[in-house]
Amino acid sequence: MNSIIELKQVIKLYERGSEKIHAVDGINFSIAPGEFVSIVGPSGSGKSTLLNLIGCVDKPTSGVVEIDGVETSSLKEKELARIRNTKIGFVFQQFFLLSTLTALENVMLPSVFSRNGQKTNKTKRAKELLDIVGLADRVNHLPSELSGGEMQRIAVARALINSPKILLADEPTGNLDSANAEIVYNILDKLHKDGLTVIAVTHNLELAHKTQKIFKLKDGKMMDE
Ligand SMILES: Nc1ncnc2c1ncn2[C@@H]1O[C@H](COP(=O)(O)OP(=O)(O)OP(=O)(O)O)[C@@H](O)[C@H]1O
Ligand SMILES: [Mg+2]
Repeated sequence: MNSIIELKQVIKLYERGSEKIHAVDGINFSIAPGEFVSIVGPSGSGKSTLLNLIGCVDKPTSGVVEIDGVETSSLKEKELARIRNTKIGFVFQQFFLLSTLTALENVMLPSVFSRNGQKTNKTKRAKELLDIVGLADRVNHLPSELSGGEMQRIAVARALINSPKILLADEPTGNLDSANAEIVYNILDKLHKDGLTVIAVTHNLELAHKTQKIFKLKDGKMMDE
């Protein structure tokens, strides 16, 4: 099958003294390009760990993580960073916007660390992205001048500035009321319909049901769908 993300027998083991925690315990997982899927499961079931492995933020203890055809477990930190910067966008529950930067500057921030593209193009692209998330009229606002839902939409725009193929969102609606959660999910759905591969961790089953597939995690293992 043609897949953009492929996990085979992935294990992440945390060892603290004599204590062993199998945060991710033998996961097989395959995502086709452009799919929109959700990951659900109780607290501590390994959702964030799994997302960090897919996002090349973390390396598995064993098993295979393939991103866009590249086997990542044997890569050096520099090569992993390259995959992270070029192929993957991250959105978190806490929006992590820099308080002294405007909406536009926050969206542009990841492009400062990316070598491709000129500054003027990045400004133009950042404005387009703010338009896509419905915030064209908030370009010059500071985070303190925005609502929570607006801040999260800016975090989504920021995750897309380097044109990733994959968007990973860890509880992107966890700090939002239901109306704003739905707005953010509709944006993710629109991005998926435009070809982006989207994986969202959520506790909100109503939103999970809007995605094409729901993966259920328990004790680091994948339950039957
Ligand atoms: N750096 C670490 N060292 C040791 N144990 C860890 C570490 N990170 C996570 N864990 C453990 O691994 C397990 C999975 O954690 P993880 O953060 O992936 O859960 P989660 O499903 O995202 O939970 P939540 O819904 O609360 O965010 C938990 O038992 C956690 O305590
Ligand atoms: Mg988590």
